[in-house]
Amino acid sequence: MLTILGIETSCDETAASVVRGGTNPVRGEVLSNIVHSQIDDHAAYGGVVPEIAARAHVEKLDGIVQRALDEANCTWSDIDAIAATTGPGLVGGLIVGVMTGKAIAYAQNKPFLPVNHLEGHALTARLTDGIQFPYLLLLVSGGHTQIVLVRGLGDYERWASTIDDALGEAFDKTAKLLGLPYPGGPAVEKHALDGNPKRFSLPRPLKGEDRLDFSFSGLKTALRRQATELGALTKDDIDDLCASFQIAVTESLEDRISRSLLRYRNEFEGRQPTLVVAGGVAANKAIRTMLEKACADHGFTFLAPPIALCTDNAAMIAWAGLEHLSEGAQSDMDATPRPRWPL
Ligand code: KG4
Ligand code: ZN
Repeated sequence: MLTILGIETSCDETAASVVRGGTNPVRGEVLSNIVHSQIDDHAAYGGVVPEIAARAHVEKLDGIVQRALDEANCTWSDIDAIAATTGPGLVGGLIVGVMTGKAIAYAQNKPFLPVNHLEGHALTARLTDGIQFPYLLLLVSGGHTQIVLVRGLGDYERWASTIDDALGEAFDKTAKLLGLPYPGGPAVEKHALDGNPKRFSLPRPLKGEDRLDFSFSGLKTALRRQATELGALTKDDIDDLCASFQIAVTESLEDRISRSLLRYRNEFEGRQPTLVVAGGVAANKAIRTMLEKACADHGFTFLAPPIALCTDNAAMIAWAGLEHLSEGAQSDMDATPRPRWPL
């Protein structure tokens, strides 16, 4: 068994976690999972401001790490290694996390493990459910929209990504346009519940096309045009725009994901296929219901880790570090932040 401290500072969450487990069989236990969201620091700007984020990470991280140790009932002697998100993400935050992780590793004489944030999302279902490779991952967050074939540890194949906005970003921009608070996803979902999804006709980007990629910016532009034509928006207008946006997004996503499910079935014939979802947008009930149905229709098992482990957190970073350490990874004190680091 290994016990790892994970650190996550790539965007607007300052997070630390202690995870214990092994990979044979796959089993992980989250001993602590501390996440400090900076939403309040950024809300007034309608999105994440990198400079504010980096400063907030500096202020909070030491205390968050200590809380993660305390809640796990651990001292440094219980910790086998320190894993920190090294990319992709905002460079200021990555520097804070990597430097803190390395400083602890140096002072405590433990290995330092650089972790790719996207790999953290990709492996979370192994931490929570112990699932075996291979499986298909749908990552839908504020910064990423991808379908990834997870073949094995360190063996990932990106099948699809967005050609413009990430899905969460499309929700956030739509919310901003309609004067709703940041982050936009939960606000749009709430208004959509009261709205008429048929009132506005919005495009279903890329629907029917053979490629597997996503696109959401045309949808946002069409929505802006409709909103501008209305002038001053009433509550009903906002509800109906949100409902029309959400159904357009959901139907576009359904078309796109179904193609990947079909491809996976063809490539891995005979094995029980699983679709794992990760990222903040996975909290959206309409999208989740659609995914459950698409999986049932295509004979897939649908797996959504608990939402606290779907959104940005450090447990997934600790777990990815743990998997690599189990496979013989060495300490890498030369690792430097990589703002762009594809999976
Ligand atoms: O994974 P996450 O917490 O952070 C990263 O972006 O990495 O995802 C945050 C994103 C935001 O864009 C937010 O608006 C979106 O997830 N989101 C939602 C919902 N809850 C969060 N989008 C749609 N519906 C929701 N209920
Ligand atoms: Zn993320």
